[in-house]
Formats: sequence, structure tokens, C-alpha cells
Amino acid sequence: MSGSTRPDVLPDVMISQERIKVRVGELARTIRQDHGGAPVHLVAVLKGAFMFLADLIREMDGPVTCDFIAVSSYGSGTSSSGEVRLTKDLDRSLEGRDVVIVEDIVDTGLTLSYLQDILRAREPRSLKTACLLNKPSRRKVDVKVEYIGFSIEDKFVVGYGLDFDERYRNLSYIGVMPGGA
Ligand code: IMP
Ligand code: MG
Repeated sequence: MSGSTRPDVLPDVMISQERIKVRVGELARTIRQDHGGAPVHLVAVLKGAFMFLADLIREMDGPVTCDFIAVSSYGSGTSSSGEVRLTKDLDRSLEGRDVVIVEDIVDTGLTLSYLQDILRAREPRSLKTACLLNKPSRRKVDVKVEYIGFSIEDKFVVGYGLDFDERYRNLSYIGVMPGGA
């Protein structure tokens, strides 16, 4: 292949659509069991968690609501500097609610630990965290995540909401770029 008209290369499959579906169903049932019949308020972190949230909430029985928050970490590309900034706040108060943060991936843990701190300050009745993916080898801060979909090795992954430079969020599976780290 030559010139600038190279066709797109699709990421290799790391976690298939079928495996994601099964695991998200299991997480939804566990979250429901842990909360009894009480209303659960899911707080999804934009943009990466939008697809996970959409599937998770459809698998949940009983009363469930959702809201969205967005953060950006200073620093570019595939590593974050650790400074996290709120770019979109929630629409509703968390006071007295049973809240579950819904996040795409916990990597260094800096984003989640920031989010847990600011959300805990809003006095929810309980605050737990669900992450589809976990990269334990990259952790810089100790952060508690009650619900984890898959623990993966230290590779940059895309798809199912996760992006590289805003691309690949639309893939139905979790993939790795061929030859990429
Ligand atoms: P942390 O603050 O280092 O834990 O970073 C978490 C955020 O970095 C996630 O919410 C993602 O947006 C992004 N991130 C970390 N690893 C990956 C990856 O492998 N693919 C895509 N985004 C990632
Ligand atoms: Mg994210």
C-alpha cells in the first residue's frame, strides 16, 4: 500500500462484544444485589463510559436513575499529568442517594480518586465505583473500585466508548492497535 490513501486498520480484538455483554450483565446483577431494592443513581463519566452506562443501565432491575459528569486531565496523548479538572457538572444533587460512579477504565487512579473526593463531599448515602476495565500495573494512587469488569495488562485499548484521539469509540469490542503498546 502506498501514498496517503491507506485503508483504516481495525484494532485487534482483546475483549469481544459477547464477553463484554456477559460481564456487564453480571455487574448489573451484583450492583442490584448490593443495594437491595433501593434506588440506585448511576453517575457516568463522559465520554468514555457512555456505552458501558447504556448497557449497564438496561441490565439493571428496579429503580435506577443516571446523571453525567465530565472531567479532563491536563496533559495530552496517552498519559495524564495527574491534574484533573471538572468540565461538566451533574444536573442533580447526590445528597442522601446511593451513588455508583460508572467509569470506563482505572489506570493510574488519579481521575477516579479526584472524582470520589468531590462526589463524597456532596454527601451521598453511599458511594461506590464500577469500572469496566482495570490496569492494575499502572496504579499511582490507591483507589477503591467495588465493581471491575476486566483487569487487563498495560496496553492502550480503544473501543466500546474508549478513544484514541477521539476515534474508535464506536467499536462494539475492546481492541488494541496492531503493533501498538
Ligand atoms: P487515570 O486517571 O490514569 O486512572 O486515567 C483514567 C482515564 O484515562 C480514563 O478515564 C480514560 O479516559 C483514560 N485512559 C486510560 N487508559 C486508557 C486506555 O488504554 N485507552 C483509552 N483511554 C484510557
Ligand atoms: Mg475516562
